[in-house]
Amino acid sequence: MTTEKISRSFNFDTIALHGGQDIDPTTRSRAVPIYQTTSYVFDDADYANELFQMQKEGYIYSRNANPTNTVLEKRLAQLEGGSGAFAVSSGQAAITIALNTLAKAGDEIVATNALYGGTYNLFANTFQRFGIKVHFVDGHDLDAVEAAINEKTKALFTETIGNPSLQIADLKNLSRIAHKHGIPLVVDNTFTTPYLEKPFDFGADIIVHSLTKFIGGHGTSIGGAIVDSGRFPWNNGRFPEFTEKKPYLNHHSFLELAKENAFIAKARFELGHDLGASLSPFNSWLFIQGLESLSLRIEKHVSNTLKVAEYLSQHEQVEWVNYPSLKDNPQFELSKIYLPKGAGSILTFGIKGGLEAAKTFINSVKLLSHVANVGDSKSLVIHPATTTHSRLLPEEQLQAGVTPEQIRLSVGLEDANDIIADIEQALSVVRTKHF
Ligand SMILES: Cc1ncc(COP(=O)(O)O)c(C=O)c1O
Repeated sequence: MTTEKISRSFNFDTIALHGGQDIDPTTRSRAVPIYQTTSYVFDDADYANELFQMQKEGYIYSRNANPTNTVLEKRLAQLEGGSGAFAVSSGQAAITIALNTLAKAGDEIVATNALYGGTYNLFANTFQRFGIKVHFVDGHDLDAVEAAINEKTKALFTETIGNPSLQIADLKNLSRIAHKHGIPLVVDNTFTTPYLEKPFDFGADIIVHSLTKFIGGHGTSIGGAIVDSGRFPWNNGRFPEFTEKKPYLNHHSFLELAKENAFIAKARFELGHDLGASLSPFNSWLFIQGLESLSLRIEKHVSNTLKVAEYLSQHEQVEWVNYPSLKDNPQFELSKIYLPKGAGSILTFGIKGGLEAAKTFINSVKLLSHVANVGDSKSLVIHPATTTHSRLLPEEQLQAGVTPEQIRLSVGLEDANDIIADIEQALSVVRTKHF
């Protein structure tokens, strides 16, 4: 019996270690091998033609598919409870490919406005140049979300936990609204990972990931993935590109050929092939190593973050702390529904003394690293208003929940006492300099 055939009945930790891997029959290698190859030898001319027309499954060229990446893709799909996945070169590539598989010039997308700054820029600028209009709405204003959808809309997009506002997406209601209008709900699950939240359980249709963060977990590699639930009815009339017969598919449609994998097949066969944002097998292998310890790491991330949040909450130099798992947080009730195991390891706090105090704090940390990243095993810190979200106009920053006194922490796996001691010494430098 192969691992792949039985893994759907396994629990999370077992899938994280075994999902998607069939032991290589030639070498019997226990670890997933790195298939560092560009291309694959075809059996004969007819076989090559059948592969190119999606009549047969097999490898052609590593821009489209690679056996190491396949293990990662299957493992991610199983962990999310989806039908298939496509691993790509970055989280940004995953978002770009997923949404452009749904929308083309003239179409529209509705997105919640509390998003990672890079995604906001991608939507507001680059998608506009592609001819795709993105409407930004407050994800907690469900009437506004619904009002922004029209006959040109091809997707509703949100992040499970908005960056850096930490707004928790109300996926049950967002998916209900999306489905009422015949469009899929696309969810960025980077901040939560399938260990903390499974968006498909709440009605989402497509998930995107920046693997760069918690799934890689060690700050070594950039990568992304698209996962499909396999449940969206592409034949509902809004998505003719899935049902039209294509000459290059031997006069079949993606839906006919790939059935519940139609979305992933279209993403891989068209934009994956044409844009070439492919994931290197070596990086894929590193993400597989990351997945193997995901739950252990996330549990420690969460317990450390709670300790740091509680410490900051009682500190006299701290104006406010935003971590949805804290009992007095306005999103605490929502966090119990969507994130009962904890609201991840990103928290923000407002430092007394505003922008200048925030800069001094960041210049004074010693253990925490000042970097533009989250989800590393090491603790990280940044000032979103002047970095990740600095391309946003002041009013756009406010809408995204970005303020001058706000500091974002990505709490790592060090001893929590050492993280807190570093924050304490940096706050004491602020006290001496500004008060
Ligand atoms: C929530 C979220 N989605 C997507 C991305 C983009 O991912 P990548 O840097 O892998 O392109 C990021 C990056 O910070 C992110 O925080």
